[in-house]
Amino acid sequence: MTCFSIAIDGPAGSGKSTVARQVAKELGLTYVDTGAMYRAITWKALKQNVDLEDESSVARMSQETDIQLSSENGVDVWVDGIKVTNDIRTPQVTSNVSLIASQARVREILVDKQREIAQKTGVVMDGRDIGTHVLPKANLKIFLTASIEERAQRRHRELTQRGYSVDWDQLKEEIRLRDEKDSVREHSPLRPAEDAIHLDTTGLSIKEVVQAILNLSRTKAIGGE
Ligand code: CDP
Ligand code: CDP
Repeated sequence: MTCFSIAIDGPAGSGKSTVARQVAKELGLTYVDTGAMYRAITWKALKQNVDLEDESSVARMSQETDIQLSSENGVDVWVDGIKVTNDIRTPQVTSNVSLIASQARVREILVDKQREIAQKTGVVMDGRDIGTHVLPKANLKIFLTASIEERAQRRHRELTQRGYSVDWDQLKEEIRLRDEKDSVREHSPLRPAEDAIHLDTTGLSIKEVVQAILNLSRTKAIGGE
C-alpha cells in the first residue's frame, strides 16, 4: 500500500516547515521535518567533538543515533532520548549543517528513515530533496520560494523573537551561502523536481500559502493522481 504524500522543498526561510505543519494538520497527515534530522546529527557531532569533515566517523555516529520527531506537534525532536528541539536551531548548528548534509552516507541513513515513515503513514515531508529523491512518487510536489530579502526578513523576525541579536547583512549572507552549498553539492542538491509546482511566496501570508497547497492537494486527491 502506498500512503498519500506531499513533498515540499525549497531554500531556507521559504516557509516550508511552517506551511507543511499546518497542511499536515488540516489533512490529518504526519508532518516530517527532514531538516531537523540533519540538524540533529550536526548537533550530536558537535557535542561529541566528532570531526565534521571525517565522513566515516560522522556516518558511524549517525548509524548509532536514534532520532525521534514528535508526531503530536511536529516540532519536538529527541536525539537518543534527549529533547533537542531548541538546541538543533542554534546559529552554530545552522552554520555547520550543510557540511553534514553534503555527505553521502549520512544522507543514505536519514533517507532510509524518512522513507520508512512514509511507508507507514500519510505524510507532508519538507526538505531539499524530497520531490527529487526521497519520495519521487509523491502525490503532490511543491517547490516553495521567496525573494532572499523576504526570507532574510522572516528569519530576522524569528531569531529576534527568540532573543538572538542578529546582524542583517550577515544573516542575509549566511542564508545565501547555505542555499548555495545546498544547491551545488554532489548528492541530492536542492532543486525542484520536474513535476513540482512552483509557488513564489514573496508577499504571501502563511494562511494564503497553506490554502493554495490545500487546494492543490484536494485536486490531486479527487483526480486520484
Ligand atoms: O529550516 P531551514 O531552512 O533553516 O533548514 P532546515 O530545513 O532545518 O534544513 C537544515 C539543512 O539541512 C539544510 O540547509 C540542508 O543543508 C539540510 N537538508 C538537506 O540537505 N536535505 C533535506 N531533505 C533537509 C535538509
Ligand atoms: O522551513 P523554512 O526554512 O523554509 O521556513 P520556516 O521556518 O517555515 O519559516 C521561516 C519564518 O518565516 C517563520 O518565522 C515563519 O513564521 C515565517 N513565514 C512567513 O512570515 N510567511 C510565510 N508565507 C511563510 C513563513
